[in-house]
Amino acid sequence: MSKAMNTALNPNQMQASPFGLSALVSDYEPGSGLAQAFYLDPSIYQLELDRLFRRHWHCLGHESIVPQPFDFELFQMAGEEVILTRDGEGALHAMLNLCRHKGAGVCPSQKGNARSFTCPYHAWTYAIDGALKTARVMPKDFDRAAYGLHKLQLLCHEGLVFITFAAEPLDFSQAEEMIAQTVGVYGWAKAKIVARKTYPIAANWKLAIENYVECYHCSPAHPEFSQTHVLEQPPEEIDALNAAMAARTQALGLCIMEGSPWETSASGREAIRSYRYALKDGVKSASQDGGPLAPLMGQFTDFDGGVTSLHFGGLSYMAAYPDHGVIYRFVPRGIDACDMEISWVVDADAVEGQDYDLEALTWLWHVTSLEDKAIIETTARGVRSHYYQPGPIAPMEAQTQRFINWYLAEISRP
Ligand code: FES
Ligand SMILES: [Fe+2]
Repeated sequence: MSKAMNTALNPNQMQASPFGLSALVSDYEPGSGLAQAFYLDPSIYQLELDRLFRRHWHCLGHESIVPQPFDFELFQMAGEEVILTRDGEGALHAMLNLCRHKGAGVCPSQKGNARSFTCPYHAWTYAIDGALKTARVMPKDFDRAAYGLHKLQLLCHEGLVFITFAAEPLDFSQAEEMIAQTVGVYGWAKAKIVARKTYPIAANWKLAIENYVECYHCSPAHPEFSQTHVLEQPPEEIDALNAAMAARTQALGLCIMEGSPWETSASGREAIRSYRYALKDGVKSASQDGGPLAPLMGQFTDFDGGVTSLHFGGLSYMAAYPDHGVIYRFVPRGIDACDMEISWVVDADAVEGQDYDLEALTWLWHVTSLEDKAIIETTARGVRSHYYQPGPIAPMEAQTQRFINWYLAEISRP
């Protein structure tokens, strides 16, 4: 019996106690997929909350989500509800939707504009930055300053909003440089979100990430994407296109970290990656006919036949075209469900109906995401089979292997 067969444990027999986890990790055979328990065992998910989701930085999207003073929006991440707000001076804040009295949710709606949040239970009232302003009929010496909403560390670079639950966050300075030299060039600081769609996926979040990071599946599963993008081809067929694109990448001064592995948190730094891929000859953007979708952004004076792709931590991904961008957020929702959320950004001055058509703009990544949802969910059903065994990782799935290596290092690190 191979190691792979040993590790394909029936979930009913397997609980990932730390001992069980270390056996699962040490039994992992490089070159193959993860064992079944990683996708099905709820105790693995509990470890992931601690060792991945509460350790790393997460992108919430673009700051244009909350454009005006006192705007707020509620997000889900790591099993928590996070309120993103903009205060009267324009500063952003992130805090838990968790009243410090008895834990009720204080945020009145999914999205809105408010000067303060009043808890519906006993009416403690919090300022837009989370400070506790009033607490009814409490003793005179009650220290309100000690009972503000739990604040999360927040960073905003080139319009992208990142939060972390970690008390001692991973160093984000290298990520900040990479953001400046990638989406900074694309002008995302002066962009706006014009569409957002959420795709609930009945699958473990790792199946969604493994799918996102490889393009072995692009040719069979994404006919629309494959009409304009060349990632689905084996490397030898795209060398010429990529070589031509490399010159343009250099001219633009884009920061590319193609060969770098996903750094683990043992380094103290956040895991990042930036890479480029080519569009087919003559293709300008991610449209049905290859034509432009919106006005050029940032430093672009022409279309460059390429896409710049970014990864942060395990759950935040982006793709930048010269005329628009897409931000992917993956939100784990337990061991067997996750959401994939896509935001589309264009230049802040672009006018809908005049400069861009919303349906055309969102078409490619919408159809591609519906296709991804279907293949991820059918895989999730297969992974639940009594007969499931992890299969070999193909050469075109090198990033899946990198993700798995990173994941195993993170989940093993207390
Ligand atoms: S739970 Fe919020 S005021 Fe009591
Ligand atoms: Fe896909």
